[in-house]
Amino acid sequence: MSDEFYYQLHHRCDLNLLELDNELLENLKFPQINDEFGIIYRRNPYYYKKVIKILIDQMEKCDTIDEEIGEWLYEEYVKLISEDTKVKQALNPTFKDIVRYEFGNERLKIEMEETPNVISGNGTTGLRTWEAALYMILYLLEHPVRGNVVEIGAGTGMVSIGIMKMQGQNISSVLVTDGDEYVANKQLPKNFQLNGIVDDTRVKFQKIRWNEDHLVNGDGPNVDYLVGADVTYDVSVLDDLVCCIEEIMAEGVRECLISATRRNPETLLEFERLLVANGLQWEVVSDSTMDCPELQALLNRPMIGPILIYSITKQE
Ligand SMILES: C[S@@+](CC[C@H](N)C(=O)[O-])C[C@H]1O[C@@H](n2cnc3c(N)ncnc32)[C@H](O)[C@@H]1O
Repeated sequence: MSDEFYYQLHHRCDLNLLELDNELLENLKFPQINDEFGIIYRRNPYYYKKVIKILIDQMEKCDTIDEEIGEWLYEEYVKLISEDTKVKQALNPTFKDIVRYEFGNERLKIEMEETPNVISGNGTTGLRTWEAALYMILYLLEHPVRGNVVEIGAGTGMVSIGIMKMQGQNISSVLVTDGDEYVANKQLPKNFQLNGIVDDTRVKFQKIRWNEDHLVNGDGPNVDYLVGADVTYDVSVLDDLVCCIEEIMAEGVRECLISATRRNPETLLEFERLLVANGLQWEVVSDSTMDCPELQALLNRPMIGPILIYSITKQE
């Protein structure tokens, strides 16, 4: 039970939704609380201060909490008051947090460095994980990929990291790409490292701006799966995106999977039209409703819209 509580905190859940009953408070014990809270403090002192405050408020309402834990919480709170400048750094637009996600019954754990205070910063929307990537992982848990994989518009790298952690034994290579230089060369390698994927010769990173940069690979067709999440976010990017998909499909791709949030129906209709115009056929293989509890549990905010997973192949 307390494991679930610590996960919610590492996941940065909305603290108003936290259920703090007496049983939970009784189960807070040293050294686990010290270890888990130490991680949260180092990663996000602002959130940590709010957690401590909520626990103190709850503790004052009931008398079930261990006396030693109670004293420790007060001491932590006093320490945080004296560290106000450090605490408030977490409110800066450039502040980087590390957020934990857990998927499926096996509780596949992935940690991501994200810049949560911005939706779009430094010209990229790839500084945080979007819900289409989370939905893609839920889909891939049931529909594994194998062989050589390329991801486009990878952002934080959630999809590729998920593939390596879930299906690594069946993966020959993963080329993780994004059109943004910082994302491709700094953020993506950092997030792979955070998840213990280090010095793995199967994993490569490359800046690929759609319809401008091209795959650097060996000779002949050698991509089995092409994947991308929330790359259809605006109609203005679709021409270049579909050209890029078409080009990579020529590498012998068996299936391209694109997870797309339906922000408005017109954008996805245009995406579908462009696919067909470029000699590709598509099928929606999964469609989240707005009321998808599994996905909602992975999100710390309301869903933007339902998510569709497109399976794209060459026209026969
Ligand atoms: C909405 S984010 C999605 C990121 C990630 N796939 C996810 O779902 O969390 C879109 C990503 O596409 C990348 N991107 C946008 N336009 C691009 C382009 N023309 N070429 C390549 N990448 C692009 C951005 O840098 C960003 O990382």
